[in-house]
Amino acid sequence: MRFQYDSIGERFVESKTTPAFSAADTHTLLGALDALGGVHGLDTLDLACGYGYNTRLLARGGARRAVGVDSSEEVIRLARAHGVTGADGADGADGADRSAGAARGAGTAGSGAGSATGTTGAAADEADTGKAPSADAASIEYVVADAARLPQMGPFDLATAVYLFNSATDRSALHAMFRSIRANLRDGGRLLAIVPNAGAYPNVDWSPYGVRIVDRIHEGDAPLLKAQFLTQPSVDFEFREWAHADFAEAAVEAGFSTVGWQPNRTPPADGVRDEEYWTAYRAWPISSLMTCTA
Ligand SMILES: C[S@@+](CC[C@H](N)C(=O)[O-])C[C@H]1O[C@@H](n2cnc3c(N)ncnc32)[C@H](O)[C@@H]1O
Repeated sequence: MRFQYDSIGERFVESKTTPAFSAADTHTLLGALDALGGVHGLDTLDLACGYGYNTRLLARGGARRAVGVDSSEEVIRLARAHGVTGADGADGADGADRSAGAARGAGTAGSGAGSATGTTGAAADEADTGKAPSADAASIEYVVADAARLPQMGPFDLATAVYLFNSATDRSALHAMFRSIRANLRDGGRLLAIVPNAGAYPNVDWSPYGVRIVDRIHEGDAPLLKAQFLTQPSVDFEFREWAHADFAEAAVEAGFSTVGWQPNRTPPADGVRDEEYWTAYRAWPISSLMTCTA
């Protein structure tokens, strides 16, 4: 079976490294990982890993295991080809070489401590030492699998899922994904998911941030959104417009004990994207961070 990302292939690599929404997602995810004390020494699972962008952040943050899972053979092939540092060198959507909570790792994410030791974590520590944390290619593994039917690969302390759940085509698939992830986490482990915000189309234009929604088709358990990554040329893709309440319901049904939400955070303004730009984005961002405790 071929999936839409098989054909997007390298085009998706480009869309990931340039648009603002990706920079904001990375900033949000890294902030959350910092707040949990980093990933050093943790067993981590990156669902819908694509070409491994976030898997590499986990590995470079010092995770003991960083397992990337995707249903597309083509993107897993790309992920393996990227190694640990990534073919794009700096490997940072916001232009910085950042990794996931490198030096502040304090036990397992599952400790429930959520120790907010400051948000300076990874980036600042790298600046202090003048070098990125070490990552061993051996700590990265890639697996082709459907997140709704994961084999037992863990247990893991932490799972990330950046734009996985919006691919669930119906409610049973959505619930199966959450159950499958829960079954691979230790009790007290965390799931950090970046999920799209529903309801923007047709009132909000995300074009300045790298994505355009072109149509909403009402069918099945959740509307189908037709969209484009605004690369040159643009790339069509589609996803399901689940409500946050649908995600929360699936998480609770799967046995997660807590479900929390955080608004998207944005990187510091710079010469390319100033404060006015990011303020407009934060008014209706493309995504939110969902945090669940197993
Ligand atoms: C928008 S991409 C996100 C990739 C990556 N998380 C990132 O942020 O760079 C969505 C990915 O989800 C994968 N995917 C879709 N449905 C999946 C499923 N049921 N199980 C695993 N991966 C899936 C696609 O193949 C694609 O690589």
